[in-house]
Amino acid sequence: KLEAVIFDLDGVVTDTAHLHFIAWRDVAQEIGITIDPVFNEQLKGISRMASLQRILQHGGKAAHFSQAECEALCARKNNRYVATLSSLTPASILPGITDLLHDLRARGIRIGLASVSLNAPIILNALGITPLFDYCADASRIKHSKPDPEIFLLACRGLGVTAQHAIGIEDAQAGIQAINACGMAAVGIGDDLTGAGLLLPSTRELNWHRLDAYWQRLHS
Ligand code: G6P
Ligand code: MG
Repeated sequence: KLEAVIFDLDGVVTDTAHLHFIAWRDVAQEIGITIDPVFNEQLKGISRMASLQRILQHGGKAAHFSQAECEALCARKNNRYVATLSSLTPASILPGITDLLHDLRARGIRIGLASVSLNAPIILNALGITPLFDYCADASRIKHSKPDPEIFLLACRGLGVTAQHAIGIEDAQAGIQAINACGMAAVGIGDDLTGAGLLLPSTRELNWHRLDAYWQRLHS
């Protein structure tokens, strides 16, 4: 029986990937590194510090910055990013998500959030949907970003469900890997993801009917 649905945040509930990109692009620029939206795909689901490390590697400057300098760069990126979050309102929720959240609640299916973003609570608040989530996994409690399953397992534990009774929804390849690694059913949002049991081009196509049909197909 399906007991819970666990959502990724960035790119599934709202589109903050672009805001992350703008903030990183500007900080990278200041240290002489250029990043583009194609490279940005690699940063999805990756923690702040791990993102910086990938950017430094990409620019061939991995060894140029001390730990303290890296922390300062992360802080600079986060300040820029958080400043842009004030632009988020309930209108920033991606199509289909609000209806799905209400449909899941009406059916007694528990709802979780598995984002490695430390800003997740601020974002849910800005979107006005904090009360619709039964449990929001605290990213400060995990050691490994996606593709490690840690954040999804923490969400399952917080919801009081086993991974075998849950569906995870993700827009990033690392996220699909994380869902699969903990034995949950994986729903992918996007067009070039591998390993998702159900792949939908956008959240517009995501609804209770499709999730239910997918679950029935898996368990028949
Ligand atoms: C999400 C995003 C990543 C971001 C990470 C950490 O996983 O997809 O791009 O780096 O959260 O976000 P934070 O808000 O803690 O810097
Ligand atoms: Mg995402």
